[in-house]
Amino acid sequence: MSDTHGSDSSPARVGGHQTVLVLDFGSQYTQLIARRVRENRVYCEILPYDTPIDEIRRRSPMGLILSGGPQSVYAPGAVRPDPALFDLGIPTLGICYGMHVMVHLLGGVVEGADHREYGRAEVDVLDPGLLFEGLGERQTVWMSHGDRIRHLPEGFSVCASTANAPTVAFENSARKLFGIQFHPEVSHTVSGGEILRNFLYGACGAAGDWGMASFLEETVEAIRARATEGRVLCAISGGVDSSVVAMLLHRALGEQMVAVFVDNGVLRKDEALQVLHSLREDLGLRVIGIDAGDRFLVALQGIEDPEEKRRIIGRVFIEVFEDEAAKHGDIRYLAQGTLYPDVIESVSVKGPSAVIKTHHNVGGLPEHLDFELIEPLRLLFKDEVRQLGRELGLPEEFVGRHPFPGPGLAVRILGEVTPERVELLQEADAIFLQELREGGFYDKVSQAFAVLLPVKSVGVMGDYRTYENVVAIRSVDTQDFMTADWSPLPYELLGRVASRVVNEISGVNRVVYDITSKPPGTIEWE
Ligand code: XMP
Repeated sequence: MSDTHGSDSSPARVGGHQTVLVLDFGSQYTQLIARRVRENRVYCEILPYDTPIDEIRRRSPMGLILSGGPQSVYAPGAVRPDPALFDLGIPTLGICYGMHVMVHLLGGVVEGADHREYGRAEVDVLDPGLLFEGLGERQTVWMSHGDRIRHLPEGFSVCASTANAPTVAFENSARKLFGIQFHPEVSHTVSGGEILRNFLYGACGAAGDWGMASFLEETVEAIRARATEGRVLCAISGGVDSSVVAMLLHRALGEQMVAVFVDNGVLRKDEALQVLHSLREDLGLRVIGIDAGDRFLVALQGIEDPEEKRRIIGRVFIEVFEDEAAKHGDIRYLAQGTLYPDVIESVSVKGPSAVIKTHHNVGGLPEHLDFELIEPLRLLFKDEVRQLGRELGLPEEFVGRHPFPGPGLAVRILGEVTPERVELLQEADAIFLQELREGGFYDKVSQAFAVLLPVKSVGVMGDYRTYENVVAIRSVDTQDFMTADWSPLPYELLGRVASRVVNEISGVNRVVYDITSKPPGTIEWE
């Protein structure tokens, strides 16, 4: 598989941009670090902690950031980078575990602390050095560690401490090595943005040359350079990602793109009609609509396992595309709206953020594909895709749409997916979304939907005992979909949704509201 920018064979600098590399030691916050760096207009990529030095050199990064990680650096089997990393002369910032590993490999001592520190902490800045330049003497930060530094290696000086740990920030200005115990990438670290900016602009000399306007131009060029022969099949789901891909391809290739919209039978209520209409009328795209609902539902018959559902849907999508492509003759490429988080999770190596779910647009693809893949968004985070959409003139209706998983309602119907259960869930979901819109909450929450549970509960309607389905409703607030809080929706709204669902949909006698955050829950139930 390959893509417009290439993943295994990325150029040293994407579009000639200065690059910071984050080496991932398995922190839950690794992707957040990369996003924060990009918010500072500096291009950033995540690589495994054990990326060979030659590969790092080849990419000529302007800076390195070593992420946190769950281990103790002195524990047997703790993950470690090649120590030669610290001799590259590249400004390097170690965060939490990344800082410990730097200290440990350069001759200092890290030990288990008497007090573990999780959550907010106050830090005293003893010497601002470069990282704390322009910041106050007391800093509120977010800690998550059980270890602390006992001795720094030679040539390193302490910048900040807390009551529990004498060294929570240090630097070695001669070698351009920096460490902080706390997490600047987390919003609870009040001046985290400034600290990262000081590293990027002060230590690394960033020029701030990354942004969506230039990404747009470069990507259009890259697509043109890539798709020189044959046509590109672009599958649009109506979500923001695939709509942005279609707009990009349209701009780059015009009629060389064949856009298709597949109704997989597990979409929201009336979605197929509405989406096709807006793609054609509002975006001016020539889109072929394919009704493949039956094909998907037949393939899903009897399947209860969530990962199996995802794989089947991924496979049937490809079969549908292959059949469609055969009608158009010279289709060489398939365009997909794969995003960076899917790429990182799916190539997960030892240590880093484990694969929790197989996202169908990466993990579900068969080994052999008759198409080459074009994935112009595979370097972007979701909020960057939205910015790019705005840059492309995509209406807010598309840009602000809640995400919808590729496997659709199939992963929101727990247990077997049948046409009756799809219809039931579509109705419940439509009621919930309608009430959210009317209450002015749709744009305030990040993602909201209904889930059909595989249990029945006893109820009473009129004078009769009922024994029917349970629907869960879920709404979350999140910036990046990697962590999320459940939305504190007003009781009246929740009450209205519950009574409408039970009254208007026969077969449902109970509605529950999901008040689980992520972690420990995930956003979807499967
Ligand atoms: P989770 O459930 O992993 O979801 O917390 C995070 C975000 O990803 C979406 N999601 C998917 N998107 N294919 C997709 O295209 C999938 O298989 C899939 N599973 C989850 C989910 O809706 C949420 O926005």
